Amino acid sequence: MLSIKKNDIREGKVIDLTHEGHGVVKVDRYPIFVPYALIDEEIQYKVIKVKKNFAIGKLLEVTTSSKQRVEPPCIYYSKCGGCQLQHMNYEAQLSMKKSQVINLFNRKGNFKETPIKDVIGMEDPWYYRNKSQLPVGRNKQDHIKLGFFRQRSHDIIDMEECLIQDSIQNKVMVAVKKWLDQLNVSVYNEQRKRGLLRHLIIRTGHYTNEMMIIFVINGYKFKQQDELISKLTNAFPQITSIKLNINQSHSNVIMGKESITLYGKQQINDLLSNVEFKISDQSFYQINTVQTEKLYRKAIEYAGLTGNETVLDTYCGIGTIGLYMAPKAKHVYGVEVVPEAIEDAKINATRNQYENTTFVCGKAEEIILKWKKEGIKPDVVMVDPPRKGCDEKFIETLLELAPEKIIYISCNPATQQRDAERLSSQYNLNEITPVDMFPHTTHVETVAQFIRQ
Ligand SMILES: C[S@@+](CC[C@H](N)C(=O)[O-])C[C@H]1O[C@@H](n2cnc3c(N)ncnc32)[C@H](O)[C@@H]1O
Repeated sequence: MLSIKKNDIREGKVIDLTHEGHGVVKVDRYPIFVPYALIDEEIQYKVIKVKKNFAIGKLLEVTTSSKQRVEPPCIYYSKCGGCQLQHMNYEAQLSMKKSQVINLFNRKGNFKETPIKDVIGMEDPWYYRNKSQLPVGRNKQDHIKLGFFRQRSHDIIDMEECLIQDSIQNKVMVAVKKWLDQLNVSVYNEQRKRGLLRHLIIRTGHYTNEMMIIFVINGYKFKQQDELISKLTNAFPQITSIKLNINQSHSNVIMGKESITLYGKQQINDLLSNVEFKISDQSFYQINTVQTEKLYRKAIEYAGLTGNETVLDTYCGIGTIGLYMAPKAKHVYGVEVVPEAIEDAKINATRNQYENTTFVCGKAEEIILKWKKEGIKPDVVMVDPPRKGCDEKFIETLLELAPEKIIYISCNPATQQRDAERLSSQYNLNEITPVDMFPHTTHVETVAQFIRQ
């Protein structure tokens, strides 16, 4: 009979970590998950939720501390939902992420022998995000709040600095907050579905320093926009684009489909290993530029191109991986579902003078079937889907296309593992390298090399 009750104050030793980075304490064999507790620590905790198969505890005191424990440098850490691992030193974060991948691939299924390499970490794992999406609200005194959502909530934590966001973006965030207040800009209220400004989005080119500001609004204009543009461009001359994005939906989706350029250019530019890219407001672009270069280098190494290969870059975004590979391949075909991203990819191919590339807008699962019917025979297929992984039809066609190598990049190793099982009838999973694209969070990116049997 389970003796654990809500509000119990208990002591225990942390024996494991969940993939969310929560400490695991067991009473008999029943697990209690305690956020912010680290492995081997002796802790005191309060039981705050009891379920049939597990309970949640709140950490009250660490009585014996782990050597991995560090003082989280961010003052918002205990409230904000952005980071989960700041209380753990960086080396321990990397080894936790490697264990996550080992647990997914080596403990069950067909990949018990697949080598999982050490996680490629970041030399200076701070101020790395090149994109901030900041919800806007008002506090009890009716002043503007700008920051990130509290964990598992839509309550905005008003911030002056985020330690994983590009430092110039912090300065813009603070300045815009002050000006929105001074100009008394109407702010969207999620409950009442009324008001104008919903999100401030800031994007920067890591190497070019170009900056794009996007005001996501529930409407088509706000009356203070000209004054705001003038304040922004005077204070931050690196701003090369200011946009309005129209989002009149009642959902949680951050951006709407329509954008209007208010100032400067349609896109911003950035470089990845000296290849120039244009990036639209609607296009996906990896948020950690320094680590992206390492990720792509590993993907190219796994592809082992000699100059004679036909390459498919599926889920290609603005064409970054394909264009990285173009000088070493015979021809690169890219497919992506967002029209603006494919337009960017075509411009990027032209301005870098890669004539051996073809970019098509559509669903990867449909376009590779079309390519197969047209007789395209790829030697290497790059796969880089969103978190939900690949469509079943996509995997079926991929197996029929039978490329020599598949290089699969994933920001969600759980769906990558599922897809790897589907490929395993014809492919050996040779090796996986995790790359830390998101320091201080529990997210892990992986690149996997599959070789045809
Ligand atoms: C993780 S991103 C990778 C983008 C790119 N490879 C890169 O490294 O920047 C996944 C991309 O897949 C696109 N996408 C989502 N579902 C898709 C589908 N069914 N077919 C094609 N592209 C899709 C998204 O718009 C996004 O650009």
